[in-house]
Amino acid sequence: MADGIQFFELNTGAKIPSMGFGTWQADPGIVGEVVTTAIKVFFFTFFISRRKMMMIHWPVSMKKGSVGLKPENLTHPDIPSTWKSMEALYDSGKARAIGVSNFSSKKLGDLLEVARVPPAVNQVESHPSWQQPKLHAFCQSKGVHLSAYSPLGSPGTGRMKREVVLKNPILNAVAEKLGKSPAQVALRWGLQMGHSILPKSTNEARIKENFDVFDWSIPEDLLAKFSEIEQASSLAKGYTRVIYLLPRTSVPTKTLKNSGMASCEQTSDF
Ligand SMILES: NC(=O)c1ccc[n+]([C@@H]2O[C@H](COP(=O)([O-])OP(=O)(O)OC[C@H]3O[C@@H](n4cnc5c(N)ncnc54)[C@H](OP(=O)(O)O)[C@@H]3O)[C@@H](O)[C@H]2O)c1
Repeated sequence: MADGIQFFELNTGAKIPSMGFGTWQADPGIVGEVVTTAIKVFFFTFFISRRKMMMIHWPVSMKKGSVGLKPENLTHPDIPSTWKSMEALYDSGKARAIGVSNFSSKKLGDLLEVARVPPAVNQVESHPSWQQPKLHAFCQSKGVHLSAYSPLGSPGTGRMKREVVLKNPILNAVAEKLGKSPAQVALRWGLQMGHSILPKSTNEARIKENFDVFDWSIPEDLLAKFSEIEQASSLAKGYTRVIYLLPRTSVPTKTLKNSGMASCEQTSDF
């Protein structure tokens, strides 16, 4: 595999940068500053080209005027009609590619059956401790690019023990062998899986560290070790992945499961 994975080609022929720049949960008032830093450090053209992609953020819909992801605010989403609007955006040229986010294999499969323009991207949580192999394989088989959010496991989010991703002993052993940081190895793993990645940082040193993943690679023998990494559902000791969302959203497990959110999926569909 070539070391320099700068772009992935989408099913529209458009290219998606292999790395984006996340700002979710950055402190108020500093986003402008950190984006400027990121642009200086690395990727002016990457930033511009990502803006031409439009996505359905979640396979859920809410009552008009309601605020917050509470059970009483959720309604049954009409994905086919929402997708028709997305297709109109694509046809008009306002979006160079249209995609979805947090779609399970089931939800994505249902959409593919009715879509005239297939989604180019499914943006879901993915990192070494949440590899989503079934969803990865399904996306690959359908030509839908998987874009990985929370590629570092969102340490510090406070939802469950997300810091376990960067502290994982296998990840750390690989990092030590390669002379890289655990974060760099987690990001590089995502690239080598064929995922574009969206790390967030507001720290200049970490922004530089995160972008320094293009001129080296994880060799095959070390890459094989990632299949031994314990996955998040078992790390959570009996809790399902859905629980990760509960402290913030208070949405019952069943409601989230029925929504088909890919963050809630490990290898099975709801
Ligand atoms: N589509 C969706 O539903 C969805 C959901 C969640 C997230 N996202 C996207 O994905 C982006 C990233 O997700 P995320 O923020 O949840 O998780 P993440 O990128 O996996 O983790 C971000 C956290 O890791 C820390 N960090 C960054 N670089 C590091 C390094 N080299 N070493 C150690 N720690 C490091 C950051 O702290 P510092 O800032 O202090 O460096 C921050 O606390 C978001 O900004 C958003 O754009 C999309």
